[in-house]
Amino acid sequence: MFPGSGGNGKERRQTVRTLFGVLADGTEVSSWSLENGGTRLKVLDYGGIVQSLEIPDRDGRYANVSLGFSTLDDYVAGSPYFGALIGRFGNRIAAGRFTLDGETHQLPLNDGDRSLHGGTEGFDRRVWDVEPFTEGPDVGLRLRLTSADGEMGYPGTLEVTVTYTLTGGGDWRIDYEATTDRATVVNLTNHVYWNLAGEGSGSVHDHELEIAAARYLPVDQSLIPTGELADVAGTPFDFRTAKAVGRDLRVAHEQSLHCKGVDHNYVLDKGVTVRPEPVAVLRDPASGRTLGIATTEPGLQFYSGNFLDGTLVGTGGRTYRQGDALCLETQAFPDAPNQPSFPSTVLRPGQTYRTTTVHSFGRS
Ligand code: BGC
Repeated sequence: MFPGSGGNGKERRQTVRTLFGVLADGTEVSSWSLENGGTRLKVLDYGGIVQSLEIPDRDGRYANVSLGFSTLDDYVAGSPYFGALIGRFGNRIAAGRFTLDGETHQLPLNDGDRSLHGGTEGFDRRVWDVEPFTEGPDVGLRLRLTSADGEMGYPGTLEVTVTYTLTGGGDWRIDYEATTDRATVVNLTNHVYWNLAGEGSGSVHDHELEIAAARYLPVDQSLIPTGELADVAGTPFDFRTAKAVGRDLRVAHEQSLHCKGVDHNYVLDKGVTVRPEPVAVLRDPASGRTLGIATTEPGLQFYSGNFLDGTLVGTGGRTYRQGDALCLETQAFPDAPNQPSFPSTVLRPGQTYRTTTVHSFGRS
Protein backbone atom coordinates (compact mmCIF):
# COMPACT_ATOMS: atom_id res chain seq x y z
CA MET A 1 0.00 0.00 0.00
CA PHE A 2 1.27 3.44 -0.90
CA PRO A 3 -0.37 6.20 1.13
CA GLY A 4 -0.39 9.44 -0.89
CA SER A 5 -1.89 12.76 0.07
CA GLY A 6 -4.33 13.11 2.92
CA GLY A 7 -7.89 14.40 2.79
CA ASN A 8 -8.84 18.05 3.06
CA GLY A 9 -11.72 17.36 5.41
CA LYS A 10 -14.56 17.55 2.92
CA GLU A 11 -13.38 15.85 -0.27
CA ARG A 12 -11.34 12.69 0.06
CA ARG A 13 -8.01 13.09 -1.71
CA GLN A 14 -5.89 10.02 -1.83
CA THR A 15 -3.61 7.81 -3.87
CA VAL A 16 -3.19 4.14 -3.02
CA ARG A 17 -0.94 1.61 -4.76
CA THR A 18 -1.71 -2.13 -4.79
CA LEU A 19 -0.30 -5.11 -6.67
CA PHE A 20 -2.54 -5.89 -9.67
CA GLY A 21 -0.68 -8.81 -11.22
CA VAL A 22 2.62 -10.21 -12.44
CA LEU A 23 3.71 -10.44 -16.09
CA ALA A 24 5.24 -13.63 -17.53
CA ASP A 25 8.75 -12.14 -17.17
CA GLY A 26 8.19 -11.51 -13.45
CA THR A 27 7.46 -7.77 -13.70
CA GLU A 28 4.99 -6.66 -11.06
CA VAL A 29 2.12 -4.49 -12.27
CA SER A 30 0.56 -2.01 -9.86
CA SER A 31 -2.87 -0.51 -9.72
CA TRP A 32 -3.02 3.13 -8.57
CA SER A 33 -6.29 4.29 -7.04
CA LEU A 34 -6.91 8.02 -7.00
CA GLU A 35 -9.87 9.89 -5.61
CA ASN A 36 -10.61 13.59 -5.79
CA GLY A 37 -13.55 15.95 -6.24
CA GLY A 38 -16.01 13.05 -6.34
CA THR A 39 -14.21 11.07 -9.09
CA ARG A 40 -12.48 7.73 -8.48
CA LEU A 41 -9.85 6.51 -10.90
CA LYS A 42 -7.84 3.27 -11.05
CA VAL A 43 -4.80 3.27 -13.30
CA LEU A 44 -2.40 0.42 -14.12
CA ASP A 45 1.26 1.07 -14.81
CA TYR A 46 0.80 -1.57 -17.56
CA GLY A 47 -0.30 0.46 -20.60
CA GLY A 48 -1.26 3.43 -18.42
CA ILE A 49 -4.62 1.71 -18.50
CA VAL A 50 -7.63 3.30 -16.84
CA GLN A 51 -8.96 0.11 -15.31
CA SER A 52 -11.91 1.78 -13.64
CA LEU A 53 -13.40 5.26 -13.48
CA GLU A 54 -16.27 5.83 -11.08
CA ILE A 55 -18.55 8.85 -10.99
CA PRO A 56 -21.88 9.47 -9.23
CA ASP A 57 -25.28 9.76 -10.91
CA ARG A 58 -27.79 12.48 -10.14
CA ASP A 59 -28.68 10.71 -6.87
CA GLY A 60 -25.06 10.23 -5.82
CA ARG A 61 -24.87 6.55 -6.81
CA TYR A 62 -21.47 5.56 -8.17
CA ALA A 63 -20.86 3.43 -11.26
CA ASN A 64 -17.74 2.45 -13.16
CA VAL A 65 -18.29 4.13 -16.53
CA SER A 66 -15.24 2.72 -18.33
CA LEU A 67 -14.96 -0.76 -19.86
CA GLY A 68 -12.13 -2.94 -18.61
CA PHE A 69 -11.02 -6.26 -17.18
CA SER A 70 -10.56 -7.43 -13.60
CA THR A 71 -7.25 -9.29 -14.17
CA LEU A 72 -3.90 -8.51 -15.76
CA ASP A 73 -4.04 -11.78 -17.69
CA ASP A 74 -7.16 -10.59 -19.52
CA TYR A 75 -5.41 -7.38 -20.61
CA VAL A 76 -2.33 -9.29 -21.76
CA ALA A 77 -4.37 -11.95 -23.58
CA GLY A 78 -5.94 -9.35 -25.85
CA SER A 79 -7.75 -6.15 -25.09
CA PRO A 80 -9.26 -3.88 -27.74
CA TYR A 81 -7.27 -1.12 -26.00
CA PHE A 82 -9.69 -0.78 -23.05
CA GLY A 83 -8.66 2.43 -21.24
CA ALA A 84 -5.11 2.29 -22.62
CA LEU A 85 -2.57 4.95 -23.49
CA ILE A 86 -1.97 4.75 -27.22
CA GLY A 87 1.35 5.45 -28.92
CA ARG A 88 3.61 6.07 -30.65
CA PHE A 89 0.95 6.72 -33.26
CA GLY A 90 -2.77 6.43 -32.53
CA ASN A 91 -5.14 5.18 -35.22
CA ARG A 92 -4.19 3.76 -38.62
CA ILE A 93 -1.21 4.21 -40.91
CA ALA A 94 -1.79 2.90 -44.44
CA ALA A 95 0.36 -0.13 -45.33
CA GLY A 96 2.13 0.52 -41.99
CA ARG A 97 4.54 2.67 -43.92
CA PHE A 98 5.54 6.32 -44.19
CA THR A 99 8.38 8.37 -45.60
CA LEU A 100 10.03 11.09 -43.54
CA ASP A 101 12.92 13.25 -44.77
CA GLY A 102 13.37 10.86 -47.71
CA GLU A 103 13.60 7.72 -45.60
CA THR A 104 10.84 5.10 -45.65
CA HIS A 105 9.89 3.38 -42.39
CA GLN A 106 8.03 0.06 -42.25
CA LEU A 107 5.97 -0.64 -39.13
CA PRO A 108 4.61 -4.03 -38.04
CA LEU A 109 1.11 -4.66 -39.46
CA ASN A 110 -1.51 -5.49 -36.85
CA ASP A 111 -4.79 -4.53 -38.56
CA GLY A 112 -4.93 -6.26 -41.92
CA ASP A 113 -2.28 -4.52 -43.98
CA ARG A 114 -2.30 -1.45 -41.73
CA SER A 115 -0.57 -0.40 -38.55
CA LEU A 116 -3.04 0.40 -35.75
CA HIS A 117 -2.39 2.21 -32.46
CA GLY A 118 1.40 1.98 -32.48
CA GLY A 119 1.77 -1.64 -33.61
CA THR A 120 1.86 -5.09 -32.06
CA GLU A 121 3.68 -3.90 -28.92
CA GLY A 122 2.46 -0.33 -28.61
CA PHE A 123 2.57 1.89 -25.53
CA ASP A 124 -0.62 0.11 -24.36
CA ARG A 125 1.53 -2.98 -23.62
CA ARG A 126 4.49 -1.25 -22.01
CA VAL A 127 4.99 -0.91 -18.26
CA TRP A 128 5.28 2.80 -17.47
CA ASP A 129 7.25 4.37 -14.60
CA VAL A 130 4.63 5.95 -12.37
CA GLU A 131 5.14 8.70 -9.84
CA PRO A 132 2.25 10.05 -7.77
CA PHE A 133 1.99 13.76 -6.96
CA THR A 134 -0.15 16.27 -5.11
CA GLU A 135 -0.26 19.88 -6.29
CA GLY A 136 -2.59 22.36 -4.60
CA PRO A 137 -6.08 20.87 -4.78
CA ASP A 138 -5.07 18.27 -7.38
CA VAL A 139 -3.73 14.73 -7.20
CA GLY A 140 -2.25 12.76 -10.05
CA LEU A 141 0.23 10.40 -11.60
CA ARG A 142 3.18 11.11 -13.85
CA LEU A 143 3.72 8.20 -16.27
CA ARG A 144 7.00 8.00 -18.13
CA LEU A 145 8.55 5.75 -20.71
CA THR A 146 11.37 5.74 -23.22
CA SER A 147 10.59 4.32 -26.64
CA ALA A 148 13.84 3.24 -28.26
CA ASP A 149 14.99 4.33 -31.72
CA GLY A 150 13.48 1.78 -34.10
CA GLU A 151 10.95 0.39 -31.61
CA MET A 152 7.87 -0.76 -33.58
CA GLY A 153 9.62 0.60 -36.67
CA TYR A 154 9.55 4.27 -35.62
CA PRO A 155 12.69 6.42 -35.91
CA GLY A 156 14.08 8.34 -32.94
CA THR A 157 14.33 7.73 -29.21
CA LEU A 158 11.11 9.14 -27.81
CA GLU A 159 10.95 10.32 -24.20
CA VAL A 160 7.30 10.39 -23.18
CA THR A 161 5.61 11.83 -20.10
CA VAL A 162 1.86 11.54 -19.66
CA THR A 163 0.31 13.25 -16.64
CA TYR A 164 -3.04 12.10 -15.33
CA THR A 165 -4.49 14.73 -12.98
CA LEU A 166 -7.66 14.41 -10.92
CA THR A 167 -8.51 18.00 -10.14
CA GLY A 168 -10.17 19.28 -6.99
CA GLY A 169 -13.34 19.63 -9.08
CA GLY A 170 -13.22 15.94 -10.12
CA ASP A 171 -12.01 16.50 -13.72
CA TRP A 172 -9.63 13.99 -15.27
CA ARG A 173 -6.99 15.89 -17.20
CA ILE A 174 -4.35 14.30 -19.44
CA ASP A 175 -1.20 16.18 -20.45
CA TYR A 176 0.96 14.45 -23.05
CA GLU A 177 4.58 15.45 -23.64
CA ALA A 178 7.29 13.93 -25.80
CA THR A 179 10.73 14.75 -27.17
CA THR A 180 12.89 12.94 -29.69
CA ASP A 181 16.54 12.75 -30.75
CA ARG A 182 15.67 12.19 -34.42
CA ALA A 183 12.72 13.26 -36.60
CA THR A 184 9.70 11.02 -35.99
CA VAL A 185 5.90 11.06 -35.97
CA VAL A 186 3.80 11.15 -32.79
CA ASN A 187 0.07 10.90 -32.08
CA LEU A 188 -0.79 10.04 -28.49
CA THR A 189 -4.27 9.42 -27.14
CA ASN A 190 -6.26 7.49 -24.58
CA HIS A 191 -8.72 4.76 -25.43
CA VAL A 192 -11.39 4.75 -22.71
CA TYR A 193 -14.63 3.03 -23.73
CA TRP A 194 -17.44 5.04 -22.12
CA ASN A 195 -20.76 3.79 -20.85
CA LEU A 196 -22.18 6.44 -18.53
CA ALA A 197 -24.86 4.04 -17.26
CA GLY A 198 -22.05 1.77 -16.02
CA GLU A 199 -19.89 -0.80 -17.81
CA GLY A 200 -21.75 -4.01 -18.59
CA SER A 201 -25.17 -2.34 -18.26
CA GLY A 202 -26.05 -2.63 -21.96
CA SER A 203 -26.06 -0.40 -25.00
CA VAL A 204 -25.08 3.28 -25.11
CA HIS A 205 -27.44 3.97 -27.99
CA ASP A 206 -29.67 6.11 -25.76
CA HIS A 207 -26.77 8.31 -24.68
CA GLU A 208 -26.89 11.76 -26.26
CA LEU A 209 -23.79 13.02 -27.99
CA GLU A 210 -22.77 16.41 -29.31
CA ILE A 211 -19.57 17.02 -31.30
CA ALA A 212 -18.47 20.50 -32.40
CA ALA A 213 -17.45 19.47 -35.90
CA ALA A 214 -19.03 20.40 -39.22
CA ARG A 215 -16.72 18.02 -41.10
CA TYR A 216 -15.40 14.50 -40.75
CA LEU A 217 -12.91 12.32 -42.59
CA PRO A 218 -14.53 9.74 -44.88
CA VAL A 219 -12.58 6.47 -45.06
CA ASP A 220 -12.00 3.70 -47.55
CA GLN A 221 -12.91 0.07 -46.85
CA SER A 222 -9.80 -0.39 -44.74
CA LEU A 223 -10.72 2.66 -42.61
CA ILE A 224 -7.92 4.81 -44.00
CA PRO A 225 -9.06 8.42 -44.63
CA THR A 226 -9.55 9.20 -48.32
CA GLY A 227 -8.09 12.67 -47.74
CA GLU A 228 -11.41 14.43 -48.23
CA LEU A 229 -12.88 16.64 -45.47
CA ALA A 230 -16.61 16.03 -45.91
CA ASP A 231 -19.57 17.94 -44.46
CA VAL A 232 -21.54 16.09 -41.78
CA ALA A 233 -24.70 17.97 -42.80
CA GLY A 234 -27.31 15.57 -44.13
CA THR A 235 -25.38 12.46 -43.03
CA PRO A 236 -25.74 10.13 -40.01
CA PHE A 237 -22.44 11.60 -38.81
CA ASP A 238 -23.98 14.95 -37.90
CA PHE A 239 -23.69 15.45 -34.12
CA ARG A 240 -23.52 19.26 -34.18
CA THR A 241 -26.72 19.27 -32.16
CA ALA A 242 -27.03 16.67 -29.39
CA LYS A 243 -28.75 13.51 -30.57
CA ALA A 244 -29.08 9.91 -29.42
CA VAL A 245 -26.03 7.89 -30.44
CA GLY A 246 -28.23 5.16 -31.91
CA ARG A 247 -30.63 7.41 -33.79
CA ASP A 248 -28.95 7.24 -37.19
CA LEU A 249 -26.69 4.20 -36.65
CA ARG A 250 -28.83 2.04 -38.93
CA VAL A 251 -29.06 4.59 -41.72
CA ALA A 252 -27.66 2.82 -44.79
CA HIS A 253 -24.85 5.25 -45.57
CA GLU A 254 -21.85 3.95 -47.51
CA GLN A 255 -19.49 5.18 -44.79
CA SER A 256 -21.33 3.23 -42.05
CA LEU A 257 -20.99 0.05 -44.10
CA HIS A 258 -17.21 0.28 -43.89
CA CYS A 259 -17.18 0.02 -40.10
CA LYS A 260 -20.58 -1.22 -38.87
CA GLY A 261 -21.53 2.21 -37.55
CA VAL A 262 -19.31 5.16 -36.78
CA ASP A 263 -15.53 4.82 -36.64
CA HIS A 264 -14.51 8.18 -38.01
CA ASN A 265 -12.32 11.11 -37.20
CA TYR A 266 -14.12 14.40 -36.72
CA VAL A 267 -12.44 17.58 -37.91
CA LEU A 268 -12.98 19.74 -34.85
CA ASP A 269 -14.23 23.20 -35.79
CA LYS A 270 -11.77 24.90 -33.42
CA GLY A 271 -8.68 23.30 -35.02
CA VAL A 272 -5.41 22.98 -33.09
CA THR A 273 -5.46 25.21 -30.01
CA VAL A 274 -2.91 26.12 -27.35
CA ARG A 275 -5.48 25.65 -24.57
CA PRO A 276 -8.02 22.82 -24.37
CA GLU A 277 -11.37 23.91 -25.80
CA PRO A 278 -14.73 22.11 -25.40
CA VAL A 279 -15.42 19.77 -28.32
CA ALA A 280 -17.89 17.10 -27.18
CA VAL A 281 -20.56 16.34 -24.61
CA LEU A 282 -21.92 12.89 -23.81
CA ARG A 283 -24.99 12.50 -21.60
CA ASP A 284 -26.88 9.52 -20.28
CA PRO A 285 -30.46 10.74 -19.77
CA ALA A 286 -31.32 7.79 -17.49
CA SER A 287 -28.60 8.30 -14.84
CA GLY A 288 -28.01 11.99 -15.51
CA ARG A 289 -24.24 11.42 -15.74
CA THR A 290 -22.48 13.70 -18.22
CA LEU A 291 -19.01 13.81 -19.72
CA GLY A 292 -17.54 16.91 -21.32
CA ILE A 293 -14.37 16.76 -23.39
CA ALA A 294 -12.04 19.67 -24.05
CA THR A 295 -8.83 19.34 -26.03
CA THR A 296 -6.00 21.10 -27.80
CA GLU A 297 -6.10 18.47 -30.58
CA PRO A 298 -7.53 18.98 -34.10
CA GLY A 299 -9.36 15.62 -34.30
CA LEU A 300 -11.73 13.36 -32.39
CA GLN A 301 -12.16 9.72 -33.33
CA PHE A 302 -15.72 8.71 -32.52
CA TYR A 303 -15.86 4.91 -32.47
CA SER A 304 -19.30 3.49 -31.66
CA GLY A 305 -18.02 0.20 -30.19
CA ASN A 306 -18.92 -1.65 -33.39
CA PHE A 307 -16.47 -4.50 -33.04
CA LEU A 308 -17.43 -5.52 -29.47
CA ASP A 309 -19.02 -8.89 -30.12
CA GLY A 310 -19.92 -10.49 -26.81
CA THR A 311 -16.71 -12.52 -26.51
CA LEU A 312 -15.05 -10.46 -23.76
CA VAL A 313 -16.10 -10.57 -20.10
CA GLY A 314 -15.66 -7.21 -18.39
CA THR A 315 -14.83 -5.97 -14.90
CA GLY A 316 -18.29 -6.66 -13.52
CA GLY A 317 -18.49 -10.18 -14.97
CA ARG A 318 -20.80 -9.26 -17.86
CA THR A 319 -20.06 -9.60 -21.58
CA TYR A 320 -19.57 -6.60 -23.83
CA ARG A 321 -21.69 -6.59 -26.98
CA GLN A 322 -21.77 -4.33 -30.02
CA GLY A 323 -22.65 -0.77 -29.00
CA ASP A 324 -22.15 -1.35 -25.26
CA ALA A 325 -19.68 1.56 -25.15
CA LEU A 326 -18.17 4.26 -27.31
CA CYS A 327 -14.77 5.89 -27.61
CA LEU A 328 -14.02 9.57 -28.07
CA GLU A 329 -10.30 9.69 -28.82
CA THR A 330 -8.76 13.14 -29.09
CA GLN A 331 -5.92 13.01 -31.58
CA ALA A 332 -4.27 14.14 -34.79
CA PHE A 333 -5.77 12.85 -38.03
CA PRO A 334 -5.34 9.15 -38.90
CA ASP A 335 -2.69 8.35 -41.48
CA ALA A 336 -1.36 11.93 -41.22
CA PRO A 337 2.23 10.77 -41.96
CA ASN A 338 1.03 9.86 -45.48
CA GLN A 339 -1.36 12.75 -46.02
CA PRO A 340 0.45 16.07 -46.44
CA SER A 341 -2.81 18.07 -46.37
CA PHE A 342 -3.49 16.94 -42.77
CA PRO A 343 -2.01 18.81 -39.77
CA SER A 344 1.58 17.62 -39.34
CA THR A 345 2.44 14.94 -36.77
CA VAL A 346 6.20 15.28 -37.27
CA LEU A 347 8.32 15.90 -34.17
CA ARG A 348 11.92 17.01 -34.54
CA PRO A 349 14.82 17.19 -32.09
CA GLY A 350 14.57 20.38 -30.03
CA GLN A 351 10.76 20.47 -30.27
CA THR A 352 8.37 19.29 -27.56
CA TYR A 353 5.14 17.50 -28.45
CA ARG A 354 2.48 18.85 -26.09
CA THR A 355 -1.26 18.14 -26.10
CA THR A 356 -3.92 18.26 -23.39
CA THR A 357 -7.35 16.70 -23.02
CA VAL A 358 -9.73 17.34 -20.11
CA HIS A 359 -12.67 15.10 -19.16
CA SER A 360 -15.23 16.86 -16.97
CA PHE A 361 -17.99 14.96 -15.22
CA GLY A 362 -21.36 16.29 -14.17
CA ARG A 363 -24.98 15.45 -13.41
CA SER A 364 -28.09 16.68 -15.11
C1 BGC B 1 -10.51 2.26 -33.90
C2 BGC B 1 -11.36 1.05 -34.22
C3 BGC B 1 -10.79 -0.15 -33.53
C4 BGC B 1 -10.73 0.15 -32.05
C5 BGC B 1 -10.16 -0.99 -31.26
C6 BGC B 1 -10.51 2.44 -32.44
O1 BGC B 1 -9.72 3.53 -32.10
O2 BGC B 1 -10.98 3.41 -34.54
O3 BGC B 1 -11.40 0.84 -35.60
O4 BGC B 1 -11.56 -1.28 -33.77
O5 BGC B 1 -9.96 1.29 -31.84
O6 BGC B 1 -9.00 -1.43 -31.79
